[in-house]
Amino acid sequence: MEKTIIKDKLNRPLRDLRISVIDRCNFRCQYCMPADQFGDDFEFLPKSALLTYEEIERLAKIFVHLGVEKIRLTGGEPLLRRDLPLLVEKLSHIEGLQDIALTTNGVLLPKVASKLKSAGLKRVNVSLDTLNDELFGEINGRGVGTKPVLEGIEAAKEAGLGVKINMVVKKGLNDSEIIPMADFCKKNGLELRFIEYMDVGSSNGWKMDDVISKKEIYQMLKEHYQLESRDPAYYGEVAKLYHYNDTDVNVGFISSVSESFCSSCTRSRLSANGQIFTCLFNGNGHDIRNFMRNGATDEELRDRITSIWSGRNDRYSDERTEETAKTRKKIEMSYIGG
Ligand code: GTP
Ligand code: 5AD
Ligand code: SF4
Ligand code: SF4
Repeated sequence: MEKTIIKDKLNRPLRDLRISVIDRCNFRCQYCMPADQFGDDFEFLPKSALLTYEEIERLAKIFVHLGVEKIRLTGGEPLLRRDLPLLVEKLSHIEGLQDIALTTNGVLLPKVASKLKSAGLKRVNVSLDTLNDELFGEINGRGVGTKPVLEGIEAAKEAGLGVKINMVVKKGLNDSEIIPMADFCKKNGLELRFIEYMDVGSSNGWKMDDVISKKEIYQMLKEHYQLESRDPAYYGEVAKLYHYNDTDVNVGFISSVSESFCSSCTRSRLSANGQIFTCLFNGNGHDIRNFMRNGATDEELRDRITSIWSGRNDRYSDERTEETAKTRKKIEMSYIGG
């Protein structure tokens, strides 16, 4: 299949598509969807608003024609969407797509990891911010201990999926867990990425003071381990990777606050209700669902996506200040899936 790789106003090619399949989550992580703002009465999207798997497949094919090589499924919590392996299976047949991955809290992996693998999923990134059960329960806002997540990680490994661990680090909350998490992941052959706490959405009460930078975490690690820098595996990789010199295990940093990486950002996002976002920090998306449901042809869809991407000049993390964090209208992370 001939691909036409489209570029945005800053000459960045379209390479990745992150698809949110659902806006609900079984957790209420403090930094993502705090329980006091996402309570029992919170109105999540009704089923009719969600793109169907057929609609997602159709759009994904068009995105791949326009340059996308990687698709990542996200949520909320993507494994809450019924029969997710069916979607993976559909996507796995798209010619020209090289990678299908999933970002998850891991709890439901024991049930579906092997089905996902058989359907064509390659790897999972599992969020885990501490090994301390009490603290984990506090962070996830549901009092859930680490056991179900650790079991999920095991299940993914056993199924033959690649596994990385995402740890959001927030000052005074889980910084004491940096070394224990590094030790645990190193021992278990898991790539751990430390993620700087970001001002996503407008419900997590983010302050610059809450951020522990990549540099600070790196200094802590250097006191315990010898690290060697790794070259990026591909253009636009968000994590800066190192490896422990006595193993081939990697450890990485996603430093979108202290060292932003907008200049090589190739990511587009499709929300669960069919809006395209060209940046994690956009306030509004571009509707594609209604356009499609009103009968748009593949060619019209392709033209619309091309025009959205060509008009893109987002570089929010490059421009972030304490002020923009407070005043800009931004989509919630739970809705767009990170
Ligand atoms: P791989 O490198 O393919 O494994 O995936 P990834 O790291 O891009 O995906 P993942 O969903 O695990 O994201 C990890 C963290 O990076 C999350 O906190 C994301 O919100 C953050 N992140 C991913 N893409 C972007 C981006 O485009 N901009 C910013 N600012 N943060 C991002
Ligand atoms: N800052 C940084 N990362 C976040 N995530 C969710 N909220 C935030 C935030 N405020 C991460 C989760 C998950 C990924 C999808 O996004 O840890 O790994
Ligand atoms: Fe759910 Fe992931 Fe957000 Fe936590 S970070 S509330 S697990 S979507
Ligand atoms: Fe890309 Fe926006 Fe993140 Fe910058 S802030 S890396 S433009 S998604």
